Amino acid sequence: MKALEWLGDSLRILDQTKLPVTTIYNDVTTYEEVAEAIESMVVRGAPAIGAAAAYGYALGAIQYTGTRVGFQDYMNTVKERLTKTRPTAVNLFWALRRMEDRLRDLYEVEDLDEIRKALVVEAESIAEDDRRVCHLIGEQGNPIVPEEANILTHCNAGALATVEYGTALGVIRAAHQMGKNIHVYADETRPFLQGARLTTFELMKDNISVTLIADNMAGYLMQQGKIDLVIVGADRIAANGDTANKIGTYSVAVLAHAHGIPFYIAAPTSTIDLKVPSGQEIPIEERNPQELRELFGVQTAPLDVPVYNPAFDVTPAKYITGIITEKGIVSPPFSVNLLKIMVRS
Ligand code: MRU
Repeated sequence: MKALEWLGDSLRILDQTKLPVTTIYNDVTTYEEVAEAIESMVVRGAPAIGAAAAYGYALGAIQYTGTRVGFQDYMNTVKERLTKTRPTAVNLFWALRRMEDRLRDLYEVEDLDEIRKALVVEAESIAEDDRRVCHLIGEQGNPIVPEEANILTHCNAGALATVEYGTALGVIRAAHQMGKNIHVYADETRPFLQGARLTTFELMKDNISVTLIADNMAGYLMQQGKIDLVIVGADRIAANGDTANKIGTYSVAVLAHAHGIPFYIAAPTSTIDLKVPSGQEIPIEERNPQELRELFGVQTAPLDVPVYNPAFDVTPAKYITGIITEKGIVSPPFSVNLLKIMVRS
């Protein structure tokens, strides 16, 4: 099951808001449709958002009917629209910058069709890099997974959140493929239920043993010695190692620390943002209050109750045991070692 697939002149997007009940694909042909799919979380997860935005940028170029003269201004509008979809996952900005850099390289090319083709190739290469990188994250994470382990994960950092294979779930998949005896506890992940709807669904499809728990059960399981390891994904990692991920990750990290349980982040280096010194500077998205007042259309709170709905939180670096990237595992001190991994080829 693929979150995204390029069909030559359109992008097939799996509607993750409908999973696991129904499997619906939308074939989109405009950058506006891609932007709306990202905003509404039809496609979600940091690397998948990045790849979708890159394809959206290429679709914008394909849609354009004007002359070469107005093309650059038009593409700036396309980029701006895609940039405004979700603020936290840095992969979105990273992918759009890569697309924009590619366009800049083509400034002497007059033929718009040649430019369109080059932008599609660049988007395909972003997607292909993500596939490769996720498999490498899986391999690099191998040393931290014991032969037998109960692993807790939060949200969905799986194939659905990437182009293929996943980051946190990539490490889990690789361990399973190596014959390790692992069991996963998946936090349901209120309010959007990525853990309940997506992580359990993905793991069950791959025959990886999984148990669903409500978010507020994690501490009790840790207290009972039922969790050996925590692995989660990331939306943005600051230069000092502070990491933004799905709301609730911070609570899990503090709990893991209190119980002496290793807490790992798995993420591609494209999620590391050295321009942001610490977690305090990471923009945190606030989503629609309705996500808390109702559950998939069914009212669960007074319709006019005031709501606070941050979609992400920041786990301070001091609670993070290590960051598993495609280039290796980064250990503390993160301010030194993240810099080193970013310059390593
Ligand atoms: O709001 P979402 O579903 O896009 O949030 C997703 C997460 O927080 C993931 O853990 C993160 O993007 C990593 S995905 C490999």
